[in-house]
Amino acid sequence: MKKICMIGSGYVGLVTGACLADFGNQITCVDVAEDKIASLNRGQIPFYEPGLRELVERNKAKKRLAFTTDLPESIRKCEIVFIAVGTPMDKDGAVDLSAVFDVAHTVAENLNGYKIVVNKSTVPVGTGARVRQVIREHTGGKVEFDVVSNPEFLREGSAIGDFMHPDRVVIGTSSTRAMKIMSRIYRPLYLIETPIIRTTLETAELIKYASNAFLATKISFINEVAMLCEQVGADIQVLAKAVGLDGRIGSKFLHAGAGYGGSCFPKDTVGLLKVAEAAGAELKIVKAAVKANEEQRKRMVRKVIQAVGDLAGKTIGVLGLSFKPRTDDVREAPALYIIQDLQKRGAKIRAYDPVAMPNAGRVLDRVTFCDDAYAVCQGADALVFMTEWNEFRELDMTRIKELLIEPVIIDTRNIYDPEQMDNLGFRYVGVGRGKPCQA
Ligand code: UDX
Repeated sequence: MKKICMIGSGYVGLVTGACLADFGNQITCVDVAEDKIASLNRGQIPFYEPGLRELVERNKAKKRLAFTTDLPESIRKCEIVFIAVGTPMDKDGAVDLSAVFDVAHTVAENLNGYKIVVNKSTVPVGTGARVRQVIREHTGGKVEFDVVSNPEFLREGSAIGDFMHPDRVVIGTSSTRAMKIMSRIYRPLYLIETPIIRTTLETAELIKYASNAFLATKISFINEVAMLCEQVGADIQVLAKAVGLDGRIGSKFLHAGAGYGGSCFPKDTVGLLKVAEAAGAELKIVKAAVKANEEQRKRMVRKVIQAVGDLAGKTIGVLGLSFKPRTDDVREAPALYIIQDLQKRGAKIRAYDPVAMPNAGRVLDRVTFCDDAYAVCQGADALVFMTEWNEFRELDMTRIKELLIEPVIIDTRNIYDPEQMDNLGFRYVGVGRGKPCQA
């Protein structure tokens, strides 16, 4: 059992804290936001993540998980400090590290004995070394400490499963003492033979960026091939399946769609480009992946225009507002980008999402939020699928057709079968599902 202080009770901090508590550790989750800590103390989770509320409740009841705003006290009482604060992108695409360094200062001021400072936040290479320097300068080398990079690979919507059954755990530090303690923390995962990558701070920091940039590239690649499919009358679904069956390629992250979004891929790809630029290394492939993703969003708007015609005065129904299913996170969600673009062109929007409407409502204006998918279609000139929530996969299409003014569907996630939609009398547009050329 370790006493751990988790600084930052956002998505990463809360999931990591609750999971480490479940391993039997004593966790104090800290945040500067008083309202957030107050609601966590009342048992309310500030965002939607399947299974998290139950996990938090269980560990709170066992007195292994507590929430506070008192950072100095929490640092003094623990052996390990996890930094899981936000590292947003500033307006030039660089990573804003002010929260990380604020924390580093407070850690330094409260270093009352050997502690390990673990960076969970995604940070540019070299940040761990800078954190070490800040603490060392402040303490004048009087107290021992170590800095570790331990990046997270949690997907929103399946974060607890990802923590409990990871593909790998990455621990970066040059200190044998810290490495030993960190290995102890992850020992529960040895039972399921999780590979543990033990490496340097710098390599660990870069592993996180390289992983996300590669996944983003895979998505952009398949989206570009989807565009080609449309031109030559090929089917991206069949193509991706066949390509993905090659063990060297793998079938995951080969789903063509509206482009990637969320809090990680858009930020981390651009962040990596900044890191590379500063290091004098040009990453042409990552640059292209970013550009292709921007194009993909625009392409989705063009699909709607092609299917509906002039958008002025038209009503478009949109299903799905979060950046992917099983989350209420709308950060960098393609749906929001596309809705705003359609609005600029004069369209009225009716929309529904199982959980993301409150968050979307804070960003979007003039959208009519509806109670379900069918209400969205009432009086709409076309229906656009933006996220592949399970509840959108088996809709009563005959009813949808009756409700829509025109039977037009733009399915940016390829949820439905084009042939079936044709048979039902829809004008159906997917992504990368070109009609075969007639001989
Ligand atoms: C991602 C990484 O997967 C995770 O390891 C990292 O730590 C944080 O970022 P997350 O942002 O939750 O996790 O989403 P993910 O499930 O990876 O999807 C990212 C985006 O890519 C979504 O917008 C999704 O719709 C899109 N996507 C994913 C595709 O368009 N096609 C695919 O084949 C897969």
